[in-house]
Amino acid sequence: MSEVRPSGGHAPAEPAAASDGNVRVFVSGSVAVLRLDRRRKLNALSTHMESALADALETEEVRSSRCVVLTGGSDVFSAGADLSEIAALDPAAVFEYYARSGGVYEKLASLRQPSVSAISGYCLGGGLELALATDLRVADESATFGFPEVGIGIVPSSGGIYRLVTMLGTAKARELILGRPRLSAADALRLGLLTEVTPVGESLDRALALAGELAHLPPLATSLAKRAIDAAAESSKAVALFVEQLAYASLQQRPQLAVPEGDGRT
Ligand code: COA
Repeated sequence: MSEVRPSGGHAPAEPAAASDGNVRVFVSGSVAVLRLDRRRKLNALSTHMESALADALETEEVRSSRCVVLTGGSDVFSAGADLSEIAALDPAAVFEYYARSGGVYEKLASLRQPSVSAISGYCLGGGLELALATDLRVADESATFGFPEVGIGIVPSSGGIYRLVTMLGTAKARELILGRPRLSAADALRLGLLTEVTPVGESLDRALALAGELAHLPPLATSLAKRAIDAAAESSKAVALFVEQLAYASLQQRPQLAVPEGDGRT
């Protein structure tokens, strides 16, 4: 697997506080692998890390890939939002944040190609929100999941509540967000948050194998299926059915444009 440095260059010469860390981009065939690289802070998602992830998603390697794998490395996925940053925010700064780096969760969720999270160790708060923004999630038995936010006086707010409710329903969302249990990989699989659980140390290999299979699917059908699933979760039944039908019809369409004779102006 070869590594590519995102053009944004988020690698300060002297890493400090919330501005350290990076997102590394690797390529394996037609799969792009993005690795959160802030191990010292358990891959806490500072605005710097979110911007680095947004830059990584814009690289040619990701754009031209047929599947994206997101990992935090072999022992932690992410311990969530960077707590040292969020303490200082006032309401205006929060909205400014969503207009800037906070948009990366939706950027990931709206990739046209499929995405898979490979999870080991802590996957908490914003880290779990990031994982929920990918299409599939593979975790190894070392993984721990949870939403600690309410306990520290905030709420999940990077699409986590919305995605949890659409995936599991309001009853389970209340249980996880208000009850704040720490879930093992087996618990998370049972609830429906995970696609698969592997032995410790094997989540990335399994995610790559899965990504290799997804990368061979017809790209337009895959992309339209993703959009139709989103529409089904977000709109009325009538609209959702219409989107399904439009998606199917557009896949059946063959080029039908008649090429005009001459220059077409007569
Ligand atoms: N934001 C910023 N820094 C974080 C962080 C976060 N969310 N989570 C961990 N870190 C930092 C710690 O401050 C520590 O830095 P230091 O070595 O410079 O002091 C380093 O990462 C290691 O964390 P530490 O707490 O020593 O590891 P641990 O194994 O004892 O505990 C956790 C791991 C995940 C249980 C604990 O770090 C934790 O509870 N983190 C916060 C989780 C959270 O509330 N996330 C949701 C935010 S919305």
